[in-house]
Formats: sequence, C-alpha cells, structure tokens
Amino acid sequence: MCGIVGYIGSKRATDILVGGLKRLEYRGYDSAGLAILHEGELKLRKVLGKLRVMEQSVEEEPIEGTVGIGHTRWATHGRPSVRNAHPHTDSSGRIALVHNGIIENYVELKTELQAEGVEFVSDTDTEVIAHLVGKYYKGDIAAAVREACARLEGAYAIAVVCRDEPDRLVAARLFSPLIVGLGDGENFIGSDIPAILDRTRDVYILDDGDMAILTREGIELCRVTGEPVRHEVYHVDWDAGAAEKGGYKHFMLKEINEQPTAFRNAMRGRIREGSSEIELPELSLTDEQLLGFRRGFVTACGTAYYAGLVGKFLLENLARLPVDSDLASEYRYRNPIIHKDQLTITVSQSGETADTLAALRMAREQGSHTLSIVNAVGSSIARDSDDVLYINAGPEIGVASTKAYSCQSLVLAMFALHMAKVRKTISKERYAQLVDELKQLPDKAQRILDDVSRIQEASAKYGQYNNFLYLGRGANLPSAYEGALKLKEISYIHAEGYAAGEMKHGPIALIEPACPTVAPAVRGAVYEKIVSNLQEVRARDGQIIAVAFEGDTDIERHADFVLRVPECDELLSPILVALPLQLFAYYCADARGCDVDQPRNLAKSVTVE
Ligand code: AGP
Repeated sequence: MCGIVGYIGSKRATDILVGGLKRLEYRGYDSAGLAILHEGELKLRKVLGKLRVMEQSVEEEPIEGTVGIGHTRWATHGRPSVRNAHPHTDSSGRIALVHNGIIENYVELKTELQAEGVEFVSDTDTEVIAHLVGKYYKGDIAAAVREACARLEGAYAIAVVCRDEPDRLVAARLFSPLIVGLGDGENFIGSDIPAILDRTRDVYILDDGDMAILTREGIELCRVTGEPVRHEVYHVDWDAGAAEKGGYKHFMLKEINEQPTAFRNAMRGRIREGSSEIELPELSLTDEQLLGFRRGFVTACGTAYYAGLVGKFLLENLARLPVDSDLASEYRYRNPIIHKDQLTITVSQSGETADTLAALRMAREQGSHTLSIVNAVGSSIARDSDDVLYINAGPEIGVASTKAYSCQSLVLAMFALHMAKVRKTISKERYAQLVDELKQLPDKAQRILDDVSRIQEASAKYGQYNNFLYLGRGANLPSAYEGALKLKEISYIHAEGYAAGEMKHGPIALIEPACPTVAPAVRGAVYEKIVSNLQEVRARDGQIIAVAFEGDTDIERHADFVLRVPECDELLSPILVALPLQLFAYYCADARGCDVDQPRNLAKSVTVE
C-alpha cells in the first residue's frame, strides 16, 4: 500500500505534494519521490526514508513548478532504495508516473519491453507501466495511459505527467483507491482523502476502471476504455485526523476492516482470476528442493508465532510434513538440533523482531534453508532469509497485529497447499476445493465486518469481567492463543489461551461465572470434542461465548452467546475466526477507554531482546 498525490494549479506544487504525502505516510514510508514540471523540464527528486527526509531535501534545494506528482512507498516489488523509489520515468525521460498497487503480469511485460530494447533501472513493477506509457505516447498522454492500462493485470492507482503536455495531469485506478480533489483554478489527486483535505473538501471518488484528466480549469472523467463517466461531488466533513484513519476511530479498527482487501492483495499474483492454481513465483525453491525437506520448523514471536502455528497445522495436515515449532526467544537459546533437511519458517509483520531474527540467523548458520513470511518488504528478516513470501497487507499502524495475522495465516495456507501438491499428498479435487475456498475468504470476511452488532453486544455483556479463558482445539488452537493475546494486550484484561483438551488437567479450576470462556467451535474434526469441553464449563456455571459457523443451530444449546462466521473449510477457519476475536477485544478495550492503537508498555516492533 503506497500513497500517491498530484497537483495542477498556480501554486508551488512541491509544498502541496509534500504536505499531501505527509498525510498519507500511514500508507507507506520507506521512500518518497516527486516529479515536477517547470519551464519545459521534468524534475525528479527521490529520497530513502520517511517524508521528513523529502521535506529537508526540498527545503535545502527547492523545486519550482506548479504541476507535479508525488509518492510515498510501501515496497512490494524491489527493496526500499532510491532507484526503486517512485516516480518512475519512460526511456525518453519526458513521462513520469507514480503507482499504488501490484501489477501481476509485470514480468511478461518487462520481458516484452526489454526485447524491444528498453533498459530498466529499477526492480519495480511500476517502472513497467512508465515504459508502456512511453511506448504508446504519440502526443496525447491520456491516450497513451489508456493504451498502457489496457495491458495491465492486477491493481493500480496511477498518476502521470508529461514534459510535452505541462497543462494536463492524468490519473487512473483499478483495485487501488484514488480520489480527485476539486479546486478553484487548481485540481488534485490522492490515494485517500487526507492527502488533499487541507486544500479542498469536494472530491470525486473514482471507481475501478475510471480515469481522470485534470487541467487547471477542470476535470474530465472517463473510463480507461474511453467512455465518459459522471460522479457526484462528495463533500468531506471529516477532520484530518479521522481521515487518516479512514473515518474509523482507531487505526486498529481500520486495519481490521481492511482485511478483505488485504486478503485479495495477499493472493494477488498467486491465485489468478479464474484459476485453481497457486503460483508462488517469488519462491526460489524448485519442486525437487521442496521434496528434499523432511521436516519443517516454525519460529516467531507473539501473534506472528500463532500465525506460524496455523501454518504448522496446515503443513502437517495437508502436506504431511512433520513440523515442529517454538517461540523464537526460547529456540535461539536452547542449542536446538537443526537439521540440514529442515525448512525453517519464520513469521514476522515488521521483519525486525530481534528474537525472530536471531533464531533465523542461527538456523541459517547451521545449514537449514530459511523461508520467512513477512509484511515489511526489505526488512532484516526478509533480507536474511533464503526465501521470503510477502503478505502484502500494507502498513499495520495499530500495535496490535490484526490484518497481518490473518494474512500471514493465509499466505501459509497457500504455501501448505503448494507443498501438498508438490509432495502429492493431496488429491486434485481437494486441492482445487481449498483454493476455491481461499478465493472466497475476502467476501466471507466482508460479511463478518458488515454486521458487528452481535460482537458489540458480546463485549457490552462480558467486557466488565477481568479474567477470560480462551479454549481451542485442532486448527483453532492458535485462534484461542491469538484471541487471548488480543484481549490482553489492548484491554489489559487477563485472558489465557489454552488447549481445550487440557482443561481437565488444571484450568477447569478457574471456571466460574466471573471467568467467561471464549471458544472457537466450528464444525469439523474436533467439533464434538470442543462441545463436550463446553458442557464441562457449563456444568461449573461458566459463561460461554462460542465462535461458530452460520447455520450451526446445535451450538446454541452449549453456549450462552454465539458469534458467527460464514461456513468454510475447517482448515481455513482460523482466518475468519480471527475477525470476531479481534473485534471482541477491540470493543472491550474501547469501552474501557484504553489506548487501543498504542497500548501501555507495548511497541509495534520489538527490536530488542
Ligand atoms: C501483536 O499483536 C503483538 N503486538 C506482538 O505479539 C507481535 O506480534 C510480536 O511482537 C511479533 O512482531 P512481528 O510480527 O513484527 O515480528
């Protein structure tokens, strides 16, 4: 997820673009860049790091000009670096472009362009678009953008300027957000409303497939295919702070609600439209190498570790690969046995967690092939791994990990299915059925988010208690651990995640009305078992909040309160079960007036031991 801005008017573009990018910094902040038109020239400025580096750069060396585009990056293809920073230009240097999204067919397009003699200077998918626009440019930048977009597969929100047409700025979107701001003798574009809110509150919100051609005098809206289109002007009545959170009260709530989009981005380029195949093009491991692994080992910290446990369960269940696991803070110090035929999998949102990084380095030093499942592109864990699968969830600002957890689990599910196919431990039908189920997850997640009233009711009814037991089994044991952690870390309510089968071996002593039990209880291999555990809880007057599939009427007899998720394969259910558990914790914490986005004593990335 990146941030793009554009301006055409009579004021100095730099001030407006940098100001807009600063308000989009929550969308990405590993590098930034500007392209400004002035007196027949196209001036580029790119920096590594946060926006304050760009602010300092333009202060020390101002850039004149009243038309331009800007970008703040969250790397997906190509590590954070100046040469990978946007804007990117075509070979002539007269066209500059910024982009937010993922181009799925960029490798094919890059090969085609290279065969025509185009030389690339970056590792990004975006540079392909710039060269395509340059290829099709014959004096009309809007027509060239139109032709280039027709070749693209994937997601894009782009803004384009051309040195030879200084009075036009062109923008287009597909599956990435883009808005147009209406001014008086000036017009704006931005990835999101905060980018332009200090300049205008009247915007067009573009739809997928829309294009906008901005001049100082006006805005032409059309489809990328050329047909004119009309949009009502939307008047924004949010304040800037709320706008950065997309109108949500907290970044955490915004990120919980971003999960359907994040799931689509995690699968983008890995499960193509209309396909039942999983492709992991970024994986260096050949099928033969994958077959060479006799065991796996998962290590991480906190929420990321629980996502790793989801992956462990799926790799064992689907790929029949023995997978062990341990917390990184334990693994790194217990002089473990590390086998050369072991695939060590680390999981990390930030890619900077000290214990996880140390465990990874130890495994690698002892000859194990390492694969990391990471959100932050180019982070230390990503760089030190032999292979990395990025989750493409976009920046996660809230300290409590939400969309990263579910996307880590989703990417691990794709990897487990890929391994199962290579190891021939899954039938074609079962493989196709699970891939199809993965593709349904974004819409199913949206259904949960479309009606959170029952979850709000549950937090209102049970949020005053100070102790909770989270019980899980099988695929959803990690859900119990993660649900308890979410409640603990943002509401400061004590909650313990436990294997339901272990309850009789001690925790059952805790059961009483003032210690409610939360239990994922979805139909599947261990449903009857978890239900009998709930009966044991009930027999001791324990209150029960169950998380169950829609349509499961039996569960009503065994729980005091039922939170529902759409039916899906039990193996993938942790990805959906996470959402009500995240929201339950969120509403309990918010009701207690806790600082949800920055809970006490916590940091987003624990880069020290
Ligand atoms: C997540 O809610 C927690 N804040 C914490 O457990 C986190 O998951 C853990 O510190 C690992 O961070 P990482 O994913 O960036 O490695």
